[in-house]
Amino acid sequence: MRSHYCGELTTKDADEHVILCGWVHRRRDHGGLIFIDLRDVSGLVQLVFDPERSGKTHLAGHRLRPEEVIQASGAVARRSPETVNPDLATGEVEINVTDVHVLNRAETPPFSIDEPEEVDEVLRLKYRYLDLRRREMLDNLLLRHRVKGRLRGFLEERRFIEVETPVLTKSTPEGARDFLVPARLRQKMFYALPQSPQLFKQLLMIAGLDRYYQIAHAFRDEDLRADRQPEHTQVDLEMSFMSVAEMMDLVEELLADLFDSVLGASLDRPFVRLTYDQALLKYGSDKPDLRFKLPIADVSGLFAGTEFGVFARALENGGVIRALRTPGGASFSRRKVDELTDFAISAGAKGLAYLYVHEGGKVTSPIAKFLSNEETAQVIEKTESRQGDLILFVADLEMAAAPVLGALRGRLAHELKLVSKGWSFLWVTEFPMFKLDEVSGEIAAEHHPFTLPTAETIGFLDDEPLKVRGSLFDLVLNGVEIASGGLRIYDAGLQRRVLSLLGHEDHKMEADFGFLLDALRYGAPPHGGLAFGLDRLVMLMGGLGTIRDVIAFPKTQSGNCPLTGAPAPVDPAQLKELGLK
Ligand code: AMO
Ligand code: AMP
Repeated sequence: MRSHYCGELTTKDADEHVILCGWVHRRRDHGGLIFIDLRDVSGLVQLVFDPERSGKTHLAGHRLRPEEVIQASGAVARRSPETVNPDLATGEVEINVTDVHVLNRAETPPFSIDEPEEVDEVLRLKYRYLDLRRREMLDNLLLRHRVKGRLRGFLEERRFIEVETPVLTKSTPEGARDFLVPARLRQKMFYALPQSPQLFKQLLMIAGLDRYYQIAHAFRDEDLRADRQPEHTQVDLEMSFMSVAEMMDLVEELLADLFDSVLGASLDRPFVRLTYDQALLKYGSDKPDLRFKLPIADVSGLFAGTEFGVFARALENGGVIRALRTPGGASFSRRKVDELTDFAISAGAKGLAYLYVHEGGKVTSPIAKFLSNEETAQVIEKTESRQGDLILFVADLEMAAAPVLGALRGRLAHELKLVSKGWSFLWVTEFPMFKLDEVSGEIAAEHHPFTLPTAETIGFLDDEPLKVRGSLFDLVLNGVEIASGGLRIYDAGLQRRVLSLLGHEDHKMEADFGFLLDALRYGAPPHGGLAFGLDRLVMLMGGLGTIRDVIAFPKTQSGNCPLTGAPAPVDPAQLKELGLK
C-alpha cells in the first residue's frame, strides 16, 4: 500500500515515485494549486495538487477534509529555494500528486489536531485516539517507548532476567487500599490486584534468579493527584548479594546510560546523598528539589531565653524554631507577606513570623520588640541573610515545622525564579522504619513491612521502634520521588518480629504471610531492590507537568476513564454469578 513514510522524505528521494498513506493534516487551497500536509506516524510532507497535471486528481484534492485517510502517489520534487519550509523536516521537498484514493472519510473532530489549542482534558481523554494524533502526545509515547527500550537493554546487559508476576493475586500491603476482584469459582473470596510485585520478586530471589526485572503495573486505590494514578507502571528491580551502595551505584549507571542515550544529557555523578533527617532539617521535605538552594536554618538555639511567647512555648513543648531566608524579600508588601502567612497556615503552620532586613541594614518586624540586637544579628548570620532579604520563621514541633518551611521554600523558589534548569538527582537514605499512623495512633511501616532495619538501629526494635531506621533509599529527581527501595528482611524470625510489631497476630500472620515466612526458611539470600515510577520518570524527562500526558489511556483525577466509561455498573446477572447479589 505504501512505499515510504511521509516524515522521512528528503532531497535524496527527489524524482522518485512514491506511494504514501496517512491523514489529511492541513489543507490550503490557493485557487489553482491545492497544498495538503499529509501526516503519518513519522511526520508530515506536503502534497501538491496541480490542475494542470490532472484535473480529476485536483478535484479529488479539492474535496479532501481534515483527518480523512488517504493514499496518494506521485513524484518527489525539490522545492524552489523560496518555498523551502525550514520548520518541517521534509520542508525541502514536496510530492506532485498524480493519483489519490480516499481510504476513509472522517467527521470533523471535536478539537483541532493541527493547532496547539487548550482543550479541556476530559474531552481529550474521551477522544484519546484523536488527542494522541497530536504530535506532542505522540512524541510523549515515543519517549516512553525509547526509555523502556533502553532500560531493558541496560538491565539485560547487567544480567537482569525479566519475569512476569501475577495480576490476580493476594493483597500485599504497601500502605494503600487494594482493588479487589471477586472470584467466581470460590464464592465470596477475592483476589487483590498487586500494589506492587514486592513479595513475588522476593520469592524470585529465594528461587535463585539473582537479578530480576519487570515493567509492571501496580494498582492502588488512593486519592489521585497530578503524579498519581490508580494504576501506574513500575520498573521493578530485585537483586541478591548486593549492598545498598552497590545497588545505588548500579542505578546511577542505569540513569546515566538512559539520559545519555535518550536525551543526550550527561549526569553529574555520584548523585547527591542526604539522610532523611538531613533532608527534613535543611529542606523541609523527604524529596527536596535541589535545583535551588534556599536552605532552612534551625535557630532554636538562638531563642533559648526569648521573651516572645510563641517561640518560648514552642521550645517548652519540645519544638523547634526554623527560619528561611527569602532573597530580595524585603521588597515584599505587607499584603504579600499576609499571603505567605495564609499559605503557611494552609500547609499546617500556626502562624508565620517574619523579619525584614532592609537595604541599609535597618531591621523591622512585628516581633522586633522581643528581639535583642544580638539575637537579630545572629539570626541574620545563621540564615546567611543579606540586606534586602526577608526572613520567615516557623515555631512548632519539628514534624510540623519542617514541611511548612519546605512548602514555603518551594513556592518562593518558583515565584522568585530561582529554579535552575537541569537534572538534580538526590538519594535520600536512612528513612525511619516505622511511623505513627495519624488516624489510629498505631505504628505502621514507613515503606513496607519487608524492609531490613539498619544494623546500627536494629537494637531499638523492641523498646523504641520509632528509632529504628530502615535500609531504605528514595531517589528524587527535581523534587519528585522517582524510585524507592532498600534491603529486605531475609530471616524468618526477624520478619515475624517486625510483623508482630506492626500488630499482626500470629494466626493472621500465618494466613496473610505464611507463604513468605515459609519461603524465608528455605535458604533466602540477602537481597534488596527498588522500583522506579516509570510514569513520573518519563514525565520529567519530557518536561511535562502530569503523568497523564505520558500514559496512553489514563484515568481522570476522580479515577474515571472518559473514553470507556469505566468504572461502570455491571449486569445484575454478573453479580449473581459472582455470589455478590
Ligand atoms: P513505592 O510504593 O515507593 O515502592 O513505588 C515505587 C515508585 O512508584 C511510583 N509511584 C507512583 N506513580 C504513579 N502513581 C502512583 N499512585 C504511584 N505510587 C508510587 C513512585 C515510587 O517511587 N515495592 C516497592 C519498591 C521496592 O521496595 O522495591 C514499591 O512499590 O515513583
Ligand atoms: P501572635 O502573638 O499570635 O499575634 O503572633 C505574632 C506573630 O507571630 C504573628 O506574625 C504570627 O503569624 C506569628 N506566629 C504565631 N504563631 C507562630 C508560630 N507557631 N511560628 C511562627 N510564627 C508564629
